[in-house]
Amino acid sequence: MSQNPGPLPITVDASTPTAAVAADAVVAFVGSRDDAADLGRGPAAALDTTTGGLLTRLAAAGELRGKPGECLPLLAPPGLKAAQLLLVGVGTTTQADAGGLYRAAATATRHLAGRPRTLVALAADPAWSPRQTEQAVAGAAVGMHGQDLYKSERRRTPFPVVWLGAAADAVERGGLLGAGVNLARRLVNTPPDDLYPASFAAEAATAAADVGLGCEIWDEARLIREGCRAILAVGRGSSRPPRLVLLTYRGPGVPEGPPQLALVGKGVTFDSGGLSLKPPDGMLTMKCDMAGAAAALAAAVTIARLQLPIRFMAAVGLAENMTGPAAYKLGDVIRARSGTTIEVHNTDAEGRIVLADVLDVVRGLSPAAIVDAATLTGACMVALGTEVAGLFTNDQPWCDRVAAAARAVGEPVWQLPMYPDVYDDLIKGEVADIKNVGDGRWGGAITAAKFLERFVGGIPWTHVDIAGPAFAEKPRAWTDGGGSGSMVRAFVELARGLT
Ligand code: BES
Ligand code: MN
Ligand code: ZN
Repeated sequence: MSQNPGPLPITVDASTPTAAVAADAVVAFVGSRDDAADLGRGPAAALDTTTGGLLTRLAAAGELRGKPGECLPLLAPPGLKAAQLLLVGVGTTTQADAGGLYRAAATATRHLAGRPRTLVALAADPAWSPRQTEQAVAGAAVGMHGQDLYKSERRRTPFPVVWLGAAADAVERGGLLGAGVNLARRLVNTPPDDLYPASFAAEAATAAADVGLGCEIWDEARLIREGCRAILAVGRGSSRPPRLVLLTYRGPGVPEGPPQLALVGKGVTFDSGGLSLKPPDGMLTMKCDMAGAAAALAAAVTIARLQLPIRFMAAVGLAENMTGPAAYKLGDVIRARSGTTIEVHNTDAEGRIVLADVLDVVRGLSPAAIVDAATLTGACMVALGTEVAGLFTNDQPWCDRVAAAARAVGEPVWQLPMYPDVYDDLIKGEVADIKNVGDGRWGGAITAAKFLERFVGGIPWTHVDIAGPAFAEKPRAWTDGGGSGSMVRAFVELARGLT
């Protein structure tokens, strides 16, 4: 298993001016207005003064525009104690919201992590809201980690960070959020031969013990006793048996009772497609098929570290979808834990089968509301592209809250319809209650959601299809390719809204 380097220190310095801080590099954020750099009244303007108008001249020369993604490294600028100044664009005030600052700070640290540094200072703008500060701090923690977990010579070297002029409590929360995102990213980026159902469960147990989450792991024997035949069917083609992990949390001083929120995650640690085998191109990145489970676990860990005053649970279904001699077959009928019978038309539509049992277990624990995250369908990527997650719901007000939380932290989401008259018939089975693919190929993301809906028993529920955003095939300014930690920040934001 790859080693977790553990989060490096993030400190706060409220008094030292940006120009006077002793660090390898200082990062300053620069906005834009009317298509030109706007130095504002914060740290960028102050730096401009101490450097004798350096930023103004760069802006006049068109070298500094303050656009998102812009990253301008300057060596030994006059009047600065640090060896290097990095100017990072944040765009207009609209663009420089919490999500924009997450990406801008990640852009900065991703650039700087290209070589070893002893200490990097980032200048917070005193005008930022606590949410903006938190997300900037989280982004900085995320940007310095790459997907080079197994490279003999790492491409990125993380470094300690000091935030200048930021509120200590917001910086602390931001650091916890960043660590949560990095946990999900590391799990997604870990190769499937190292991260399989039992080893994911072991990671969950370790993390849970660390932060004081309750943790129950259902092994094969327990899954049989519990009637989780759907999870077991998907896992049968693998030499690595499935697991189900339940995490529980009750905040300080919160009375006992049913969870206010249950997060559910699809944890297919590798999706070969099973006997409906995927072509090699489509299989290459299928270690990412546990990203929903990683998001649920990482959000749970972060919620516990933040000590949010809520009752909360998370449940993840872990299985490897393989083609071994006992593999489940096309035409098989599975009696799910809920009693609903499922006709298997395509073993590559395995995620919904795994989630059928997990949702039923969660339903039995009577949470007030459910959100699941799953890399469920390629069809969702056809509909929304690679950056936007799909939302599906049986309860519009609940979906609106999930969408608002995601957008507040810069995670784009878009809702797709669930019209019963239009879609319900499309998953009716011939020999069993339902089948695991829709009639015909159209609306594949929706028919998958319709399948899940059958297992939530009327509890307010929103399904988040993260097949697009969970895994980046190509690097962007703010991130290396690979696992993105999609929905970790959104889920923590959602949980905070319950308090
Ligand atoms: N894990 C895949 C969906 C996926 C595709 C996630 C690409 C991330 C990137 C899922 O299990 C799957 O194979 N879905 C099938 C469903 C189909 C057989 C009805 C799909 O989308 O093709
Ligand atoms: Mn599949
Ligand atoms: Zn899958």
